[in-house]
Amino acid sequence: MNKSASNSNDYIVIKAKEDGVSVIGLTRGSDTRFHHSEKLDEGEVMIAQFTEHTSAIKIRGHAKISTAYGEVESEKKHD
Ligand code: TRP
Repeated sequence: MNKSASNSNDYIVIKAKEDGVSVIGLTRGSDTRFHHSEKLDEGEVMIAQFTEHTSAIKIRGHAKISTAYGEVESEKKHD
């Protein structure tokens, strides 16, 4: 299987709507674990791809996420 068949080359765009948003990369393969965490402050943008090493991306905190599939907003946990 070539890379373009297994991974999308599309970028996802994450724009933080509050301070302290985490963008967490999870490993590809049988062992799914965090491999990278990036903190964004309000207004900061991260542009990321799914790669050979990254199969999932978890976002904690309030952010706007734009993908080829559409836009979604993550919400801040309110207790
Ligand atoms: N070294 C990582 C990789 O190539 C960098 C990375 C790509 C990443 N996409 C990510 C880190 C998304 C966190 C979230 O897979």
